[in-house]
Amino acid sequence: MHVFGLTGGIASGKSTVSRMLRELGARVLDADVIAREVVEPGTPGLQSIRERFPGVVGPDGRLDRVKLGAHIFADPAERAALNAIVHPQVRAAFLQKLEALEAEGITHAVYDVPLLIETGLHTAMEGVAVVWVPREVQKARLMARDGLDAEAAEARLAAQLSLDDKRQHATWVIDNSGGPEATRPQVEAVWRAMLAHG
Ligand SMILES: Nc1ncnc2c1ncn2[C@@H]1O[C@H](COP(=O)(O)OP(=O)(O)OP(=O)(O)O)[C@@H](O)[C@H]1O
Ligand SMILES: [Mg+2]
Repeated sequence: MHVFGLTGGIASGKSTVSRMLRELGARVLDADVIAREVVEPGTPGLQSIRERFPGVVGPDGRLDRVKLGAHIFADPAERAALNAIVHPQVRAAFLQKLEALEAEGITHAVYDVPLLIETGLHTAMEGVAVVWVPREVQKARLMARDGLDAEAAEARLAAQLSLDDKRQHATWVIDNSGGPEATRPQVEAVWRAMLAHG
């Protein structure tokens, strides 16, 4: 199985590019989706969280993300404790999904991970596509999509590794600063390059 990373920054266009890749027939695994699946009701992940962070499971048996967020928001040690529970579960689920794809005869897959580079996971990928836009475009799209003012958008951007830093680790940079019609051919070229591995 040839596995390639897809990443970018907040509102840089990861979901947009991921959709284009799927339209081309790529199988894209989404780390955010997996991270939600491993804490669904009845999972060992949720059980471990319930034991470590009492009160964060609501009466409906679901994880209360607002309450959990309050625990970990300003406390790196608590965040690390949460990650120590969730990350191994995500890793196991990811490998299981890869095996299922392999059983289907799939040979090339893409893993969409917002924090691919921050977590060092990019080094385990056969190649990395970074969805890049200039910072001002990123800020404007973030403000428009999430209804944020400039200050709130700046704060979110400042909390992340910049796209200019991330692109240093890219095998392929997808410049998403134009319209979708300018991005699509780049995505096609990247998918062709991925398929050429093997
Ligand atoms: N090429 C483009 N031209 C114009 N708008 C775009 C383009 N690509 C994405 N957008 C818009 O920018 C916003 C962010 O795009 P998208 O949701 O794909 O980013 P993302 O990287 O997945 O964000 P997040 O980190 O929050 O998941 C959306 O409102 C989307 O419609
Ligand atoms: Mg997204």
